[in-house]
Amino acid sequence: MTVVRTQVAIIGAGPAGMFLAHLLRRAAIDAVVIERRDRAYVEGRVRAGVLEQVTVDQMHRLGLADRLVRDGLIHDGTKLALDGQVFRIDLAALTGGSTVTVYGQQEVMRDLFDAATADDLAIMWNAADVALAGLNGNQPTVTWREAGIERTLACDFVVGCDGFHGVSRGAIPANVRATFERVYPFGWLGILADVPPADHELIYANHERGFALASMRSATRSRYYIQCGLDEDIGDWSDNRFWDELCRRLGPDAAARVTRGSSFEKTIAPLRSFVTEPMRWGRLFLAGDAAHIVPPTGAKGMNLAVSDVTMLGEALVEHYRERSDAGIDGYSARALARVWKAERFSWWFTSVTHRFPTMDGFDRRIQMAELDYIRRSPAAQRVLAENYVGLPLEVV
Ligand code: FAD
Ligand code: PHB
Repeated sequence: MTVVRTQVAIIGAGPAGMFLAHLLRRAAIDAVVIERRDRAYVEGRVRAGVLEQVTVDQMHRLGLADRLVRDGLIHDGTKLALDGQVFRIDLAALTGGSTVTVYGQQEVMRDLFDAATADDLAIMWNAADVALAGLNGNQPTVTWREAGIERTLACDFVVGCDGFHGVSRGAIPANVRATFERVYPFGWLGILADVPPADHELIYANHERGFALASMRSATRSRYYIQCGLDEDIGDWSDNRFWDELCRRLGPDAAARVTRGSSFEKTIAPLRSFVTEPMRWGRLFLAGDAAHIVPPTGAKGMNLAVSDVTMLGEALVEHYRERSDAGIDGYSARALARVWKAERFSWWFTSVTHRFPTMDGFDRRIQMAELDYIRRSPAAQRVLAENYVGLPLEVV
């Protein structure tokens, strides 16, 4: 059995793992990425669509922003709707010029993988039975099977970037790990269709019948979601039924601008808030969905993965270049401070825009009052806007 050595072993080639691999390469730190699936599978997953400035900046710093600059759609505002009445939040005016960029996670992954190939980054695809050992000592190892052959990687640090269902989080003993969780009693039914979007901005709609979101991937590709029950059968949702329900929830003005067409993707995703603490144990660090999940309402999932590894990348550079462990010792607290602000925002935005099965007339009127308050109060709009565009890395 051959043992290979590296400085940093990264488990998972999603956004967290690949951004970190590129950051470390730029700093001449040796890293190997170990991924359970193949490239086509990881790149094909339809997920996030909205990038915060922190994420866009990171793409620029890595020299990976050519396609993002060409194809990304910069949004300086977003829209909310209450029972069909649409109003606008001027993100840029409320935040001193900040914007978000619509650019799909699939495109981000393609850019990261193309550059990884060009830079010869080490990615071990199709790694089965990944296991971590020695995390609380000085010589951690990662083992896996590749085409039936056992592989071992010895390293200084392991970074768990393997998402919510990965193995890394479970390598931290239960008695040092605390988890905090909310599971929401509904999901999002999402479709992709090659039709022009209903609006040039996103519309987050609260309707008596449930939440709806009008989003996009480009001027010719729309991404729409409607809140649905967790027990819904996707087979019961024909395209026509989806379009009818979407239009009811967006209201007549936006519905008049919806172009219908056949969908080429249709999935139901559950909604969850989840945080595990700490994000470091011995020589293991967690980053991205391996450590925390947010409901997609705030569009924060992928952005948090990038801000985690931005902080961790800085800490590892400090360790190897300056021989200081201050950064790695502070990583968990620093990352969690920002994670919890995004958890709060995503939970709040979900709470005010969705229909909860237990809601009574009082709850509904509180939601309506809150949205009406946002519509009229620049102060309330500013709070929404500064969270939506993304808080700075150092949150107060
Ligand atoms: P992931 O993207 O999950 O990547 C983890 C990687 O690790 C995967 O490639 C996986 O194959 C690999 N892996 C897992 N287990 C192992 C193992 N044992 N060994 C080796 N490799 C392993 N966010 C938004 O902002 N907006 C959205 O609309 C949105 N929609 C989403 C829909 C779904 C169904 C899901 C699951 C997430 C969605 N998200 C959305 C969240 C966003 O996509 C994630 O936050 C983001 O992908 C997190 O990146 P990550 O690298 O931490 O984890
Ligand atoms: C998306 O386009 O997929 C998207 C946009 C905004 C969200 C969630 C998902 O809040």
